[in-house]
Amino acid sequence: MNNPDQRQSWSPDTYQENARFVSDLGNAVLNWLSPQAGERILDLGCGDGALTKRIAQAGVDVTGVDTSDELLSAARAQGLDVRWMDGHNLSFDHEFDAVFSNAALHWMLKPGEVVDGVRQALKPGGRFIGEFGGHGNVSTIITAMRAAARIHGGNEELAGPWFYPTTEEYRDLLTGRGFDVRRISLIPRPTPLRTGIRGWLMTFRKPFFEQYDESVQPAILDEVESLLAHTLRDKSDNWTADYVRLRFEARLGK
Ligand code: BEZ
Repeated sequence: MNNPDQRQSWSPDTYQENARFVSDLGNAVLNWLSPQAGERILDLGCGDGALTKRIAQAGVDVTGVDTSDELLSAARAQGLDVRWMDGHNLSFDHEFDAVFSNAALHWMLKPGEVVDGVRQALKPGGRFIGEFGGHGNVSTIITAMRAAARIHGGNEELAGPWFYPTTEEYRDLLTGRGFDVRRISLIPRPTPLRTGIRGWLMTFRKPFFEQYDESVQPAILDEVESLLAHTLRDKSDNWTADYVRLRFEARLGK
């Protein structure tokens, strides 16, 4: 998260409350990883270590990296081997059987640098398995924030600074950097937001709201919520976000 617009501080409690679903929904990509006892695996963007721990439980020697000190502390408290490292500047040397990443790659806005570091981290024949936001991810939410910025004056770019590629774009990126892409798909995944849209917005898009004076932030939140209610809230007041996942498996030659 090098871009200043991306700087966020993640409180483990807020994350636990509003974003626990991120790791809860990680089963499919973990199945694609299929970790084997004795392997050495890098978890890129490990967050608070919820999935890192599950990989470790398969008998794997797993290392996690992330750029949030708060979430790394939560991971360390579970006894996991994690360290602070920017995904754009991975400094591993052909030491992992696999690199795994869930719900993190869309935060890294120079994906070529990330993939170069992943290739450098892998042993010959190693695999890169991941899932992150794909083209169209949370597009309704981004559009509502952009609309609020137009109505109230503000920087629309702060609404959605993420990398959400199409499968073609990401396949080309991986292939151009020496990977053989075995599987890649975009998967719409409507995602229930147990704590509603406000919690999601303030957990994941704080910088957008913090561009406004504190006294008007609640009105901007109200505006975004009311724009979104028509499409994302049902008659029983349940909120569902329009997530789209890009899941892939890529391998290096031996
Ligand atoms: C995602 O996992 O797709 C995501 C998470 C936080 C903000 C935006 C998207």
